[in-house]
Amino acid sequence: MISKASAPGKIILFGEHFVVYGVKAILASVDKRITVTSKKTDEKKIIIDSLFGNQNYSSDADIESIKPEIQPIAYLAKKMINKFDWTGGIQIKIDSQLPPGVGLGSSSSSCVASAASISGLFEERPREDILELAIDAERTIFPQTSGADCTVCTFGGIIEYQKDKDYEKINAKPDFELVILNSDTIHSTDKMVSQVREFKNTNPEMFLKLCEKETNLIEKAKQALRNNDSANIGRIMKENQSYLEEIGVSNQNLQNIVEFANSKTFGSKLTGAGGGGCIISITNKNDLKTITESFDRAKYKYWTAKLDFDGLIVE
Ligand code: PMV
Repeated sequence: MISKASAPGKIILFGEHFVVYGVKAILASVDKRITVTSKKTDEKKIIIDSLFGNQNYSSDADIESIKPEIQPIAYLAKKMINKFDWTGGIQIKIDSQLPPGVGLGSSSSSCVASAASISGLFEERPREDILELAIDAERTIFPQTSGADCTVCTFGGIIEYQKDKDYEKINAKPDFELVILNSDTIHSTDKMVSQVREFKNTNPEMFLKLCEKETNLIEKAKQALRNNDSANIGRIMKENQSYLEEIGVSNQNLQNIVEFANSKTFGSKLTGAGGGGCIISITNKNDLKTITESFDRAKYKYWTAKLDFDGLIVE
């Protein structure tokens, strides 16, 4: 028996970093997926075939001895083997359309798809349970994860997220086209979060003001998304980018890309922790070809994408 599931990647549309201090953030899933196919094997092995190579472990292997990039997946396999007293092993294949380490949710998406695929070998579970499993798995490598990324990868669409509160789905289906530009620098979320904490500690009043501004911006963003008003969403993205520049998570390379993209699209901003990673830009269908041609000429690395409204798909 084969069990197959896929989950989308994600972007942070608005509110990264400020969300750490209680401001709301808006996340959306994108139509670039990770697909996980699992099957039971007679041999007591956990075999994981992914872009990190073909890894082969004994089913009893200690989770800490497993390559960090695939620890969450091995954790899920071991959990199911133990829960169902399965005497054999599990073979898992991960196919990804998402590059790792650039803030597009590759880790969360693989946790969600793996949770559904691996648990699906033994039982059917509702999406809420899959999400819980996926967050547990992701905590093996990101103990501080808020769970926001796994949530949006499970349910799809656009969500509003606030720390220590339940997420809320934003009922909007904006039809803009996304261009995701890769700055070609891998970023460290932990490092950038610590850098912002330092900024906040040395500039408490300025930081508080920016949190207030971000809170207002999020409300405007929700309205613009509901109204499918791409020009306005673009303006709000530019405004959000300026706050991210003020707290020091942008850099010259990111700013150059943002400026170039702004001159061609409705608006752009970095997405995620900053310091590297990706920039998102929005445009409409008619202009997409001309815009991507200009990105090609400027030799930028980019993907075009749309928002995803399916979330987890179990085949
Ligand atoms: O770059 P990512 O996808 O890891 O996003 C980090 C988002 C932050 O707001 C900077 C941190 C967080 O935990 O919310």
